[in-house]
Amino acid sequence: MYLRQFSAAAIVSIVASSLWYYRKEPDQKRELAGSPTTARGLPHLNPAVANGQSQSRPVVEDDRFFVQEVASSGPIIKSAEVQSVSPHAMLNPEEATQKLRHLQESYEVLRGRGVLRYDIVQLPSNNPIEDDHVEKLMETSPSVPLHDQTDSSATSDWMFWSVFDGHSGWTTSAKLRQVLTSYVARELDATYKHTIAASSLLPPSAALVDAAIKQGFLKCDHDIVHESINRAKKANTKSAAADILGPALSGSCALLSFYDSRSKDFRVACTGDSRAVLGRLNPNGTWTAQPLSEDQTGGTPSEMARLRAEHPGEPNVVAHGRILGNLEPSRAFGDAHYKWARDIQDMVKKDWFGRSPLTLLKTPPYVTAEPVVTTTRVMPEKGDFVVLATDGLWEMLTNDEVVGLVGRWLEENPLKSKTTPSASPSWTRSFLGGKARSDASLPVNRLHNESSQSGQRSPIRRQQWDITAGDERFVVEDKNAATHLVRNALGGRDRDMVCGLLTLPSPYSRRYRDDLTVEVIFFGEAEPCGDVVLNVEASAPRIARPKL
Ligand SMILES: *[C@@H]1O[C@H](CO)[C@@H](O)[C@H](O)[C@H]1NC(C)=O
Ligand SMILES: *[C@@H]1O[C@H](CO)[C@@H](O)[C@H](O)[C@H]1NC(C)=O
Repeated sequence: MYLRQFSAAAIVSIVASSLWYYRKEPDQKRELAGSPTTARGLPHLNPAVANGQSQSRPVVEDDRFFVQEVASSGPIIKSAEVQSVSPHAMLNPEEATQKLRHLQESYEVLRGRGVLRYDIVQLPSNNPIEDDHVEKLMETSPSVPLHDQTDSSATSDWMFWSVFDGHSGWTTSAKLRQVLTSYVARELDATYKHTIAASSLLPPSAALVDAAIKQGFLKCDHDIVHESINRAKKANTKSAAADILGPALSGSCALLSFYDSRSKDFRVACTGDSRAVLGRLNPNGTWTAQPLSEDQTGGTPSEMARLRAEHPGEPNVVAHGRILGNLEPSRAFGDAHYKWARDIQDMVKKDWFGRSPLTLLKTPPYVTAEPVVTTTRVMPEKGDFVVLATDGLWEMLTNDEVVGLVGRWLEENPLKSKTTPSASPSWTRSFLGGKARSDASLPVNRLHNESSQSGQRSPIRRQQWDITAGDERFVVEDKNAATHLVRNALGGRDRDMVCGLLTLPSPYSRRYRDDLTVEVIFFGEAEPCGDVVLNVEASAPRIARPKL
């Protein structure tokens, strides 16, 4: 099977996936002095980039945001987990913590543009992990008009955070890490330029911006699924064809978020069943969770209705909550067996790989990469935060629990901000009658009854693991907010549960937990005093190691 061949080739050197590209500030005063791990305050972690070997590097020039060629057609690479533990020996709590923190990263954003920090963690269950993620920042040029027209010399930051939940292999999600942000940014760039030229300096409407993001997703998927056939035809060997068709044959959900520091608009483009949730502080010190995306599966009523309307006379287009009774997400990248016409699938089978078309295949495509886009005005002055995560997390925790857990974490790990949220530990404790929070409930305003959160599946693993749902099961032990969420998802205070779930080796672990990718983005107001720096305290040592 072609995928096994990829896995064998997958043990390659670690490539950190956080790449930051932006124009170097001519103003040298803004450089951070003496940060030992980031020579210019720029965490260019990819050794290839550090050595100037990158083939596909966006460039930001004075007269435009950036220019960006589609990333290379070179090999897609992925690091695989080294299985160092005997499957029979239970990890002790220190080893479990080490495993939990193995892929954590944290960055402080010192640019004074509304974002203070973001934390990331991944926990593999598949080996290699089928999830992926990417974060990018682009500085827009002054020629882009401001909404309020008050300070036309200022640049704006565009920041992108994305998580990708792969299935049937890791190649689609890895491809998305390499190229998706570029596709979206190019469409946004074109839309801004076109509108500004056509309308004498008015920025594009919200609908045009949403359309640009959708267009970026669709073009990217078209190249992965359909253009790849043309390229594979030119390949000389089956293995070269397998490399080219890999991202078409496996699949991936994508959750891309886009923050414009000038408008404070935070857009979430969702294809599939990863989820974004906003946490906002109430005046009384509790937080409220607001979902920014809706899970898209064969069990989502609106998605079922859409698919039935698009494929009349095919009663099994959705069966048992799955597309053609098989695929759970109703929107995804790749998954060519749900998109290619039958004659293409026959040709692929004959010329390259032996897999027959699905018997129910009549009127493809059944699966689309087109995202649903939502826009939310974030409030840095209120200390908003956003959690992005693949469905592995939401199988274990509700939106309210996730937001409450980050709220609890903030009480112990307050961020430096001009407008410190009123929920300081002392304030919250007095609110609770002087009682320390550790024995109390999460600081979350539970608006919803869990089973009625619209369009969102409730945490199914909790029953599987027989977890009682009380807040007393939670702990704060990690400096990385994303790691904190994963620890509590896996059992929190119940160390045996955490150690047991982490001990299970791949592939057995897959029955109990999915691959996990979690990002927490903290907004806040602060003076600009640097760029993006690694937060060593909340990052794994291997992340801190590369030096420039
Ligand atoms: C806190 O404030 C929110 C929003 O104003 C409100 O819905 C909630 O009931 C309040 N909670 C408490 C414990 O007062
Ligand atoms: C929660 O919502 C479900 C479904 O809407 C409903 O059946 C149930 O009675 C609600 N429970 C409470 C406590 O409101």
